[in-house]
Order: sequence, then C-alpha cells, then structure tokens
Amino acid sequence: MKSKTSFVCSACGHQSPKWLGQCPACSAWNTHEEGVAPPRKEAWRGDVSLIRALGDIADRELARYTSGIEEFDRVLGGGLVPGSLVLVAGDPGIGKSTLLLEAASAYARRGLRVLYVSAEESERQLRFRSRRLSGIEHSIQVLASTRLDAVAPAVEAAELDVLIVDSVQTLHREGATTAPGSAGQVRDNALYFMELAKRTHVPVLLVGHVTKEGTVAGPRTVEHLVDAVLYLEGDPFHPYRVLRAAKNRFGPTHEAGMFEMGDHGLREVQNPSEFLLQERHADSSGSVVTVAMEGTRSILLEVQALVARAGYGSARRVAMGPDPRRVAVILAVLERRARLDLSASEVFLNVAGGFSIAEPAADLALALAVASSYYDKPVDPRCVAVGEIGLAGEVRRVSRLGLRLKEAARLGFTTALVPGRDRSVGDGASGLRVVPVSRIDEALDAALGNSRQVEQRHG
Ligand code: TYD
Ligand code: MG
Repeated sequence: MKSKTSFVCSACGHQSPKWLGQCPACSAWNTHEEGVAPPRKEAWRGDVSLIRALGDIADRELARYTSGIEEFDRVLGGGLVPGSLVLVAGDPGIGKSTLLLEAASAYARRGLRVLYVSAEESERQLRFRSRRLSGIEHSIQVLASTRLDAVAPAVEAAELDVLIVDSVQTLHREGATTAPGSAGQVRDNALYFMELAKRTHVPVLLVGHVTKEGTVAGPRTVEHLVDAVLYLEGDPFHPYRVLRAAKNRFGPTHEAGMFEMGDHGLREVQNPSEFLLQERHADSSGSVVTVAMEGTRSILLEVQALVARAGYGSARRVAMGPDPRRVAVILAVLERRARLDLSASEVFLNVAGGFSIAEPAADLALALAVASSYYDKPVDPRCVAVGEIGLAGEVRRVSRLGLRLKEAARLGFTTALVPGRDRSVGDGASGLRVVPVSRIDEALDAALGNSRQVEQRHG
C-alpha cells in the first residue's frame, strides 16, 4: 500500500488525481494544490463477529444523559444520547457558550465527567463567565486551545462522559490542507468529533456560529453529518431565547425550549405564555393575542399593529416578527375582501417580546390587529384569534387547534375566534366561547362589531 500524489482543494479538501482549475466539489477557482493523498483502505477482510442481533444491543447503550435543565433535555429528545454528535448553532453573541457552560455544570452536578474545550475564550475568560453565572460546578474540566492537534490527544486520554467543543470554526489543525475557517476545515473538525463520538461513546456538543453568507463557512455545511442540530435563536435586544431542534436522529424535530437571558445567565422559562403576556397593554387598539406552536407546545403571543396616515412618498409596511410576505397578503386581502383602504397608510406590525412567527395560523390575529388599529377600536382583551387567511378572504384551518385553545383557556381567555370549518376544537375549548368565522369580514364583524363601517377613522 503506498501513498500517491494527488491534488487537494485548499477550500474544501476535495481530492483529484490531476490538477483542476475549478474544484468540482465547491466550485472555487485555483484552489487545487499538490498534496499527498491518504493511503487507500486495505482490501476488505471478513469479520463476522462485528455483526450483532438488534435485540442484543444492551439497554444501557440506549440510555440518555439528562442535565435537569428541562428545556434543554426536552429539545434533545429527552436527554443526550451517548455517542451522538450534536451541533448547537446560532448567531454570535446569542448565548451558546453560556447555555453550554450551564449544561456542562448541570451534567457535572449529576456526577458526569465533563470536558469543556474552548477554542474561543481563554481559561481566565471561562472562569470570569462561570463567576457571573450562578452555581457553576467547579468539577468541570476545561481546556483552552485552538489547536486540534493539542485537543485531540488530551480528549482521547481523558476519562469522559460528555465533551463540549466551542467552536467548530475556531479549531484548526496544523498542516491541514484546508484553509482555517473554510468549509473544508469545519467539515474536517466535525468528522473528527463524529468519529470520536462513535468510537468512544462520548457524546459531543459542538458549537457552530451562524455566519453571514460568503464570509466563513457556517455550520450548515456539517448539518448532514451530525446526529442533531439545535438552533439557539432570539432577538439580541430582547431577553428571550428559543432553542429549536432543526434535526434530531434521536428525538422529535420542531421541539423547542424557552429561556430568558439575564444578568446571571440563561434561565428556563417553563410558562412562556404567562411570561410573554406580562407587559401587555390590553385595552389599546391594535393588540390581538394568537396561539402559536413552538414545537409540541402552544404559546400565546401578542401581535401589535399600528396603522398611521402616511406622510409623503410611498406608504411603508414594516413587519417586525411576522413574515413580511404573509403580511403583504393579509393587507391585500383586507383591502379587497374587507374594504379597508390602506393605500394612504403606513402599517407597522410587531410581535411582542421580539418573537418571530412564520406560522400562517397567526394570519387572523395579524389581520384583526391591523383592522383594530385602523378603526381605532380595541379587540376584547380576553379573546384569542387563530386561523390562516386565504386569498379569497376565507379563514382556513390550522393544525392542533385543540391544543392551542387549551392554552388560551388555561390562561383565562374567554373567547376564541377560530376557522369556521374546523371541527377539531375538542375538549381543549372548555371554558372558552368558540366563535367560528369563515371569512375575514365575518371575523372583523365578530371582533370589532358591525358598526365598524360607520366608525371608520380614515373615512
Ligand atoms: P455568549 O454565551 O458568549 O454567546 P455566544 O457564545 O453565542 O457567542 O453570550 C454573549 C451575550 O450574552 C453577551 O452579549 C452578554 C450576554 N450575557 C448576559 O446577558 N448574561 C450573562 O450572564 C452572560 C454570561 C452573558
Ligand atoms: Mg461563545
């Protein structure tokens, strides 16, 4: 078996036997450099002992490590699976290091041996952070280095239960054929930890920064390699953070955990609806509550609209939180199907708490909020609205209506505007007056009264 010369792309690590101007794998130009290809694998030899009966795999191999941070464990599908590689991705500064140091502490408190590899912050910086957070376990092992060559031997020698690596982008290997920060290097690192996790059964939590396109390689390039991808999201100007499972081989996707970033780190929010409605100014016009689904959980969110006479130039439409494309549809439907004249008005839409909602189920609440501000008539503060709006002005069914209404009832809401044809209200609606609406104008009449035409502010 001999090594042979080949050409390697310095951007992505693609190999070819001859020099190529453009890399066929990553399309980069002039990146192929002469290098030595790793030796070919030996010819296969039979080893029947590797094959096992599915039932012989011991139960302990299916165990999960729980941290006790419920919002975190739930998003992982009930805990961290030994031998799995989990990517925790998010914008820089959103709280990934904070979350993982807290998770490390929680695992350590339960007697697990945790190593936190920091390739971003020095040991002293880690110590500063841990002082700021309350009750961080001192038994967490730390290793601050940006060199994978230094990290790998230490990790292999250590007796570990959980490994945390912060971050996949900042670790690099000396003499690697791939450029630092490139997609190739990020993938090399991910592959190394993947192999380590599978071989040693130590689960690895890998931090990845979501990067602006075109700069350095983002974590998306390794999403297909890892077992689970969790995204930590939030508006940097608000304290709420949502941890979402975008992919999970060992649990449900679309699961979400809620946190609040405070002066002493992230705190779990187990009752997000109560939390988010705290600051509500219920009696003003333009405020409507809807029930969104975050994973398997229903959450009450307040949407706010402000319709204001436009000055000069074109009338602006600004959506902070709702999907601007859905907002455009909703405004057009309000004009055409409910006779609101918004042509000379500016429309601002917002979701309280810095949340974003992409779900069409929020359409009805957004439309009602706009109409409420337009007529300057408040909607009953104890009313929630759930429904998708179609182009014909029809109110369409949404998923899991029963679950949504249950949450509204739990929080003391008394009325729910729901899609007319939906028969799945179920017993979730106990205590709620359910008002079925089939069309947008019907919904407006139900929420704002029939007199709305006369009271039109812009008339
Ligand atoms: P960090 O966990 O360093 O983010 P990431 O690792 O995703 O880049 O969090 C950084 C931000 O969080 C920073 O702006 C300060 C803020 N923060 C708090 O508000 N409270 C805290 O207790 C900590 C540790 C950080
Ligand atoms: Mg960090």
